[in-house]
Amino acid sequence: EKGGYDHFMLKEIFEQPRTIYDCLRGRLDVENGKITMSGIQQYAEQIVNAGRIIIIACGTSWHAGLVAEYVIEELCRIPVEVEYASEFRYRNPIINKGDVIIAISQSGETADTLVAIEKAKEQGAIILGIVNAVGSSIARLSHAGAYTHSGPEIGVASTKAFTGQLAVLNMVALLLAAHKGTIDRDRYLLLCKELTAIPEKAEAILKLDAEIKAIAEKYKDASNALFLGRGYNFPVALEGALKLKEISYIHAEGYPAAEMKHGPIALVDDQLPVVFVATKDSYHEKVVSNIQEIKARKGKVIAIITEGDTVIPGLADDVIVLPAADEIVAPMLSVIPLQLLSYHVGVAKGYDVDKPRNLAKSVTVE
Ligand code: M6R
Repeated sequence: EKGGYDHFMLKEIFEQPRTIYDCLRGRLDVENGKITMSGIQQYAEQIVNAGRIIIIACGTSWHAGLVAEYVIEELCRIPVEVEYASEFRYRNPIINKGDVIIAISQSGETADTLVAIEKAKEQGAIILGIVNAVGSSIARLSHAGAYTHSGPEIGVASTKAFTGQLAVLNMVALLLAAHKGTIDRDRYLLLCKELTAIPEKAEAILKLDAEIKAIAEKYKDASNALFLGRGYNFPVALEGALKLKEISYIHAEGYPAAEMKHGPIALVDDQLPVVFVATKDSYHEKVVSNIQEIKARKGKVIAIITEGDTVIPGLADDVIVLPAADEIVAPMLSVIPLQLLSYHVGVAKGYDVDKPRNLAKSVTVE
């Protein structure tokens, strides 16, 4: 059942080239530059005219929502808010008729997310569900949506569901941007191509497994870790920290790289590993300065970078080199080494990575 892998988590990480491909298949027609997602298309006009989009989710799915906020605002110029379901449902939120809610959930059964969208639906919002589990409660409650087609996710740590969510959300953003006319044709076609290239690039990243395992073993006894990124990679940093916490019980925090100066930098000493998600994008130069600031305080820097980067290898203690990708689609790739890193740290520490203590796969109680 684990397909020859030691754990479901590893199997699911390795399935990603396939699951991302399955998610894109039948929807993204690169040749003709066409995206077909009937559920979303049905509401496209209402969505592009919405005053705002509110994304509701928990945990890893909430991180996918944060990436989507950046992508949708950039490509579609629609204001997006991302809310923790548990906060949203209890704070008497303002919902206007015509507001669009996107609920993101792997299981489709997360209690807080479910109740949050019930509440928004009662107040006249359009509910779109980005869900993995077919026929689940959230899928049924939504007006429309799109399945991630990632297949069953057994490991408690969400991995392939996250990249599936990002793939769907990227297509949704492109579809809406084309509908609204906020993206020029060349950029649209380029991003379609970039999306199609993800499975192959993910495959190349999985080949770095042994390298990442060695890095994991080097840092496995750390008692704290910091994960930093900017822009599209900021939510990836949060996701990397969540994965490490869940699987290895090492205290980890994710921050926007520039925010470290406002507090977390006080933690930096020669014992602290700082993971930078520093792939080549429009924030790169800024991230390089942040790395220099950590090195000046003797922190240990592990950097996820893009091939051809000649600067960061001279600064970082360890680098993991990824294939180049447009910044919009990059999080689907930059998260993979972080998944592997936490997996290998957890295994090296002798923990049950598929069933970390105190956690349930699906949080069906609030
Ligand atoms: O099934 P959902 O996507 O609604 O679940 C949300 C979170 O409970 C989930 O992502 C959780 O944070 C994972 N254990 C993260 O790995």
